Amino acid sequence: MGGVTLCRCELVTDEDIKAAIDRWNVHSMNEVKLITRAGKGACQGRCCFSLVRALVAYVLGVDPGTLLPPRVRLPVRPVPVVLFGRPGTTTGDTISMIAPLQDSSRERRT
Ligand code: FES
Repeated sequence: MGGVTLCRCELVTDEDIKAAIDRWNVHSMNEVKLITRAGKGACQGRCCFSLVRALVAYVLGVDPGTLLPPRVRLPVRPVPVVLFGRPGTTTGDTISMIAPLQDSSRERRT
């Protein structure tokens, strides 16, 4: 398929989105996401959302600001469980399990 790639994570082109709008009578960003997978990639739409929204708004003839963003599934990015803990507020056993993880995460950042 030709066209300009708008969603690099899922390799969705402008032609894919136009075809989805024509074929499925799409009227929302969520429907575009479900049908084409645009915005379902690793970046969860951070790179392509504005491009896809601009195209959908243009094809539908509406203001881009009127299109609601598609639903996002959490977590958007994998997060170590240790980041949800608050050292000092948990039991001693939990702290002893968390401390080595925190030390190793500090080592990776440097
Ligand atoms: S570029 Fe579309 S989900 Fe990442």
